[in-house]
Amino acid sequence: MTNILVIHGPNLNMLGKREPEIYGTDTLAAINQNLNQMAQQNSVNLQTFQSNNEGEIVSRIQQAGSDQIDFIIINPAAYTHTSVAIRDAFLATRIEFIEVHLSNVYAREEFRMFSYLSDLAVGVISGFGKSSYLLALEAAVIHCKQSVKPRTE
Ligand code: DQA
Repeated sequence: MTNILVIHGPNLNMLGKREPEIYGTDTLAAINQNLNQMAQQNSVNLQTFQSNNEGEIVSRIQQAGSDQIDFIIINPAAYTHTSVAIRDAFLATRIEFIEVHLSNVYAREEFRMFSYLSDLAVGVISGFGKSSYLLALEAAVIHCKQSVKPRTE
């Protein structure tokens, strides 16, 4: 079974109330529920994690390395544009990931156009609201099926 971890960064616990004109009216719980439904349909073991704390996100990525997580879907939120530490955690663990954004970060302020993670990601999905996460899960499932796992023997 494929193990996928979804990481939600800072302020995403406030979805539903937070700038709904940009981020929509769905709560994080509703997004996670949709992801879980889709994961079940695709026989994926899905875990979700949200933190407002950069160090906790770094620790969760490190832990994923020893937890047999096959793939990460991450919305790093504001840390996208600032975090060398999260970049280094992905470099250290080498876990493949998709970077997700609810809003189209290229149609907003200039500082949102730079990401510390995009060049390391398998791909980036930005601008489709809640569907960004669902599209990312669909892409992750296809990607994991296609990737050849390294031999252990
Ligand atoms: C975001 C975009 C970021 O620029 C912002 O800081 C967020 C959310 C998005 O999902 O559109 O918090 O990652």
